Amino acid sequence: MSGTDGIWWREPWTAATWPPAWTVHHVAETTSTNVVLADAASRGEVGDRTVLVADHQTAGRGRLDRRWDAPAQANLLASMLFTDVPPDPFELTQRVGLAGLAAARAVRPDRRIELKWPNDLLADGVKLAGVLAQRITSGAVIVGIGMNLRWAPPGAARLFDDAYPAESTATILSTLLGFYDALPADIGSVYRADLATIGQRVRVELPSGEHVVGVAVDVDHDGRLLVDVDRGQVSRESAPERRVFDVGDVVHLRPAEPA
Ligand code: BTN
Repeated sequence: MSGTDGIWWREPWTAATWPPAWTVHHVAETTSTNVVLADAASRGEVGDRTVLVADHQTAGRGRLDRRWDAPAQANLLASMLFTDVPPDPFELTQRVGLAGLAAARAVRPDRRIELKWPNDLLADGVKLAGVLAQRITSGAVIVGIGMNLRWAPPGAARLFDDAYPAESTATILSTLLGFYDALPADIGSVYRADLATIGQRVRVELPSGEHVVGVAVDVDHDGRLLVDVDRGQVSRESAPERRVFDVGDVVHLRPAEPA
C-alpha cells in the first residue's frame, strides 16, 4: 500500500459500527500500519483519530527495532493517528494500552489480563499484545497495537484458544476505541493503578544487554519506570539504589524466581 493509491483513504471501513470521532480504514495487506499511517499523515491526507487496520503486515514493527509478525487474518494489527497531542505524548500510548486492556478483559473475563510496563498486555503472565508509538515531524503521534487473537508466536499468548470468526477483529477494535473514549482526562493515576508491574520484583533488560533486578516501585510523570535495585547489584561506586528507566523490556519475576 502506498500513497499513490490514496483512494482507499476516502473509503472508511463500514464492516463495523465505530464510536463517533474515529475514522477506520481497512486493508488486506500492507507493510506496517504504523509506517503507512505516518506517511499518509505527513502528506496531510488523514486527520486526528484516523485508524488503519490490516489483515496482514509484511514488515510489521515492534519495539526496540524488532519485527512484529502474524499470519494473515489472525490478529489485531491497528494504528491510530493523533494530531491533537497532549503535552506528555506518552499518555497516548498509556491510553491505548489501557483501552486494549479493557477490551481484552471484556471479551475474556476468565483470563488474567494485565498491563506490564511500558504498555504490554499479558494474559496469564504471558505477552498478549504490544504497543508501538512514533512521532512524525508535524508533531502528530501514531500509536500502533498488535494483539494476538488467534495466533501467537512461541512463548506468547493468544486471546482465543478456539476458532474465533475473522470478522470479529472489528468488534475487538470497536470495543477498544470505545474504551479509549471512556478513559478519564487524568490518565496517569489510572495507568499506575492498572499497571501490574508496580510492586513486582522485575528484571529490566536494557538495549545495551545489561539487566537489572529489583522491585518496580512507580512510574514517574515522564512515563519512566522507577526500580529499587537489589542490594547485591549496587556497589558503593555505582549508580544510586533507585534507578529510572525510560526504555527496556521488563520481566515480572515470581518472588522465589532466580534473576
Ligand atoms: C511491541 O514490540 O511490543 C510492539 C508491537 C506493536 C505492533 C503493532 S501491529 C500494528 C502496528 N504496526 C506495526 O508495524 N507495529 C504496530
